[in-house]
Amino acid sequence: VKYTIVDQDTCIACSACGIAAPDLFDYDDEGTSFAILDDNQGHTPVPEELVEDLEDAYDSCPSGSIKMADTPFTCEKSEAG
Ligand code: F3S
Repeated sequence: VKYTIVDQDTCIACSACGIAAPDLFDYDDEGTSFAILDDNQGHTPVPEELVEDLEDAYDSCPSGSIKMADTPFTCEKSEAG
């Protein structure tokens, strides 16, 4: 099982993530990405069929802002690493 969250402090609105994984990432008014699944909370497991897209997005983000983990992210982004 994978979980994902966008580090919005480092996202530079590249938009590569939404191209790689359109069902997982969308953008706010400023182009900053967020995880669609649970409004960027990082608590909702990524559906099995979307994990490959997630890995593509993770690989394609130039600023490393797509976070991916085997356990849910907490509210404290700095500790979620
Ligand atoms: Fe931001 Fe990376 Fe996506 S910079 S818009 S999270 S590809």
